[in-house]
Amino acid sequence: MCGIFAVVNDKTNQAAQTTLEGLKKLEYRGYDSWGIALIPNNKKTIKVDKHIGKIGQAKTYLPTGSIAIGHTRWATHGGVTDKNAHPHLDCKKEIAVIHNGIVENYKELKSQLNKKGHTFRSDTDTEVIAHIIEEKIKTRSINEAVFSTFNSLAGSNAIVVLDRKTGTVIACRNGSPLVVGLGDGQFFLGSDVPAFLKYTNRVHFLNDGEGVTIRNNGIKINNLKSGKTITFSSQVLDWKLEDAEKGGYPHFLLKEIYDQKITIEKTASLNADGFAKISQMLNQNYKIVLTGCGSASYCALAGKYFFAAAGIDTQVYAANELMPFINLLGKKTLLIAISQSGETADTIIAVKAAKKNGATIVAVVNAKGSTLERLSDIVLSVGAGPEIAVVSTKAFTSQLATLYLLSKSAVGKLEHGKMNIKKLSHDLKNLLSPTLIKRLIKIATSLLDQEHIFIIGKHLNYPAGLEFAMKIKETSYLHAESFAAGELKHGVITLIQKGTPCFVLASTDDAKDEVLSSAAQLKARGGRIIGVAPFNSREFDEVIKTPDLGDLTIFPNIIVGQLLGYYLGIGRGADPDKPRNLAKSVTVK
Ligand code: G6P
Repeated sequence: MCGIFAVVNDKTNQAAQTTLEGLKKLEYRGYDSWGIALIPNNKKTIKVDKHIGKIGQAKTYLPTGSIAIGHTRWATHGGVTDKNAHPHLDCKKEIAVIHNGIVENYKELKSQLNKKGHTFRSDTDTEVIAHIIEEKIKTRSINEAVFSTFNSLAGSNAIVVLDRKTGTVIACRNGSPLVVGLGDGQFFLGSDVPAFLKYTNRVHFLNDGEGVTIRNNGIKINNLKSGKTITFSSQVLDWKLEDAEKGGYPHFLLKEIYDQKITIEKTASLNADGFAKISQMLNQNYKIVLTGCGSASYCALAGKYFFAAAGIDTQVYAANELMPFINLLGKKTLLIAISQSGETADTIIAVKAAKKNGATIVAVVNAKGSTLERLSDIVLSVGAGPEIAVVSTKAFTSQLATLYLLSKSAVGKLEHGKMNIKKLSHDLKNLLSPTLIKRLIKIATSLLDQEHIFIIGKHLNYPAGLEFAMKIKETSYLHAESFAAGELKHGVITLIQKGTPCFVLASTDDAKDEVLSSAAQLKARGGRIIGVAPFNSREFDEVIKTPDLGDLTIFPNIIVGQLLGYYLGIGRGADPDKPRNLAKSVTVK
């Protein structure tokens, strides 16, 4: 949540424009407001430009200069107003601050500052940071003042401070992500790598408890508590600029749905060592617990079915509901935490608690250098590349493929699993045809004015249905709800009326007959039955045919839901890349 960007020694001397562009790449982290602070060439005062609303088409007319910081906001404390947009300044307007996180003790800090005569211009927790630095700088260097201020903040936070007098940018991290980009004589900071990927792929992921000081002539990293200088080594990522661009598609969401033609297969070439390590531990009677939030929790649930098919018992908890059970996770537990960003607060909290109890942590994670990755004992890299659209698609299917391959590897059938993934990838290329898109647009158009859409699925198609419904809800704001087919007759059926759209997700498996019988029950109540399956059936009023891939049929079934969500969103005038109220990376509890 919230996107952070900074540039120091901008070679174009257009630091505000560079920052605006960087922030546009981070808009998925928050789009309530945006803002930039710049030290202009004349260095007289810090110039600020900040506004509510999305940054997508925004322009800035800030003057030239080579140092700037910028922010896109997902509001927590203080409403969505211009004055609450970041950056925030101290009383003298010498220091600008941007922030990702929540200063949990801000009320107490604010009242102390009020007593000292500081004037606040916003209702945010962030503004206290600028005023505390203003106090501390009276007796210390800017570095010491910022580090000591950061140490006094409670909660998970990342801050970036711009100091006019010294022309310095200082950033500190505890919990919220921050990565330093080392360009050719110019330096960057971002919440995520895509923000500055245009300029460099050489990075250093800041660790919790580290502060970085950036001046025109270089960077320095310090331990925030001891002040000691830390020697660090940068790494070069294999991400390319194209990965963070729309590549001719109208939206990132559509591009990322199509990326799955390649990304799912790529997953099959990863993680052999990690799979082997985990398989060994399973032989030593470790138990598996799967967890994640949102789409990742549906992935965890689907994983349970994959493992069951391999004869392995697992438990699944949404990370935000794991804490009451945390003491059941001990030394012989493998906690498999699934996350696109690796920064989701609820997932991190659960992982830290399980780790404390002695559990071994396995991260199934897409973003590189994330907190989850660093907390883990074994990392299963998802390898889907940067996922920019808020709604998860390619990261989700690669996570799912990772769990499938792990379940196969655990019973010595990794090669067989890889072959199946290859076949899936091949069939997906055929599925994503103009004919399918035409059909889906027609179906989406017929659903635009509906109030409710229901989805049913059984066994593996049950978690697939949950994900299918989630895509529709997130992207189109239509009420879409998925149920286990067997639950239908226990209450849900009262909601079905003449013409109610009902999607029935099915595969050629043991559950087929039962799911069709549930479809018949819906049809008997007047429901409009749309099958998403590798076969047609008389229970279906219409069918979207997907490839017959055994357990892996859920992949194309889900991808139909992704596309349907996209076209419903377009038809209903929503922004498919940035659904209202959501953020891609939810770093607050
Ligand atoms: C947010 C996103 C969801 C995502 C969830 C978990 O709610 O909007 O799309 O599934 O976070 O995110 P993670 O990065 O942990 O997979």
